[in-house]
Amino acid sequence: MQFRPGIKWPLAAMAAVCIVSGIYYADLLRSAFLRNPIPPSAESIARGRQLFEKDCAVCHGARGRGDGAAAAALPQRPDDLSRIAPPPIFPDGVVAYRIINGVKMMPAFKSTLSENEIWDLLNFIRSLAAKPP
Ligand code: HEC
Repeated sequence: MQFRPGIKWPLAAMAAVCIVSGIYYADLLRSAFLRNPIPPSAESIARGRQLFEKDCAVCHGARGRGDGAAAAALPQRPDDLSRIAPPPIFPDGVVAYRIINGVKMMPAFKSTLSENEIWDLLNFIRSLAAKPP
């Protein structure tokens, strides 16, 4: 059998990359299909607001605009949470994943917040987008 280096290795390498990133991002992929089980009631949004003021406003600002007291000191500006795209572009589960696991300068909250608290926060964050500045 003749060995043809042209096509096999790139294909094998691509397959390997897919498998490895599939494992690495499996949680994230799964999270894309999660739905927020808590309806965005006024009570849930109020609970989310309280949590947000306690844990998130230092960086993200009270209205989620990314202008919190600590924001200027960060190497990267926290995202404006009032501009997070609605599902299906930015699904609920992926926003929750970000809060649970953090990203770079964004701390992970999996040990401090319960699942229900994360969903309350999500309802609050989604409510920011609905209001004009
Ligand atoms: C230490 C400052 C800090 C705190 C506290 C913080 N964040 Fe963040 N957050 C960031 C930064 C910085 C980013 C941008 C990270 C990146 O994309 O590299 C971010 C990103 C995010 C994102 C992702 C937005 C996107 O478009 O990807 C969400 C959602 C989020 N934060 C929610 C929260 C919530 C909810 C809390 C409170 C439970 C919180 N953050 C607390 C700094 C913070």
